Amino acid sequence: MNFELLKQTALADLEKASDDVSREAWRVKYLGRKSDLSLFLRSLAEKTDQEKRALGPQANALRKELELRFHGAVVGGRYRPETFRFDVTQPGVKHETGHLHPLTLVSRDILRIFVSMGFDVATGPEIESAYYNFDALNIPAWHPARETMDTMWLDLPELQKPLPERGQTGYQYPAGYKFLLRTHTSPIQIRYMETHKPPFRMVVGDGRAFRNEATDARHEFQLNQLEGLMIGTDVSIATLRSVIHDFFRGFFGPDVAMRMVPSYYPFVEPGVDITVSCVGCKGKNRACKICGGLGWLEVAGAGMVHPNVLKAVALDPKKWQGFAFGFGVDRLAMTKYAIDDIRLFMSGDERFIRQF
Ligand code: DAH
Repeated sequence: MNFELLKQTALADLEKASDDVSREAWRVKYLGRKSDLSLFLRSLAEKTDQEKRALGPQANALRKELELRFHGAVVGGRYRPETFRFDVTQPGVKHETGHLHPLTLVSRDILRIFVSMGFDVATGPEIESAYYNFDALNIPAWHPARETMDTMWLDLPELQKPLPERGQTGYQYPAGYKFLLRTHTSPIQIRYMETHKPPFRMVVGDGRAFRNEATDARHEFQLNQLEGLMIGTDVSIATLRSVIHDFFRGFFGPDVAMRMVPSYYPFVEPGVDITVSCVGCKGKNRACKICGGLGWLEVAGAGMVHPNVLKAVALDPKKWQGFAFGFGVDRLAMTKYAIDDIRLFMSGDERFIRQF
């Protein structure tokens, strides 16, 4: 078989094939099952080893080359084999496009509002040491508040690193403390104060927190929080109220009402719970599913940063003061979109996810 001659004729023919029908004919003639080249390749099986070694590679290389040239001639998608008919009655191919998860949408909404008020966006590790999660937040080992967190401890060796110097960045862990999945995003307050000089205001952008919960419609073992912190020389509880109220107006709309109810968190003094008027029934429906007929929804804890917390990061409580808050992002999302079961968020159920 004269490979060179075959190549010359084949390529010359391909040049002349100017439409899909003639290109298909070319393909059958030179590359089809009954083409000279295919027949030759098949006949190699009966040849001696020596002949195989001599001719096989040449024949294969030619086949490759013709295939490449053929594909080159039909690129652009204009190629249609003769038998192809376009059926206009066939349904089209639907391309699914992804979209953002409702919790992501809500977090971005929230962050946008706080950023517009001059807040910096901070993050922190999801694996925390007991120092950041508890001790530095004025929750010592004996404190009953640790029990309410019902912690998920990790079986990791304790790191032997010293406490970070002020101004140092990166995730640093003090020595001698056990690790856990963070039970709230408040430890990022400590990390932020260790690495930034006041005055400042910050919110946490990736607020996953973990607790050992018996799950139900309002409780999930993984929850999302929005932590905030503002420190200055003249930041008062009135500042807290006005910042949160502005946030609610941006998030829920102009006629939302809010309340601050006294509460207790070890890392603030005084501490409050923040409630909003129910967006579902505006307090007018005793059978409302969203607020349970109360007319108010509890969405955050907050308060003035405790002096012990400021001391833990070497800030003088006589000079610096400020507030902190922690929102339940899932609760905010449930309120805004009238979702009545928190477990839906992480269920992976597309019937739920597709609605947003
Ligand atoms: N960390 C608290 C929790 O998970 C929420 C919280 C309350 C955060 C008061 C705060 C705060 O920053 O000031 O229950």
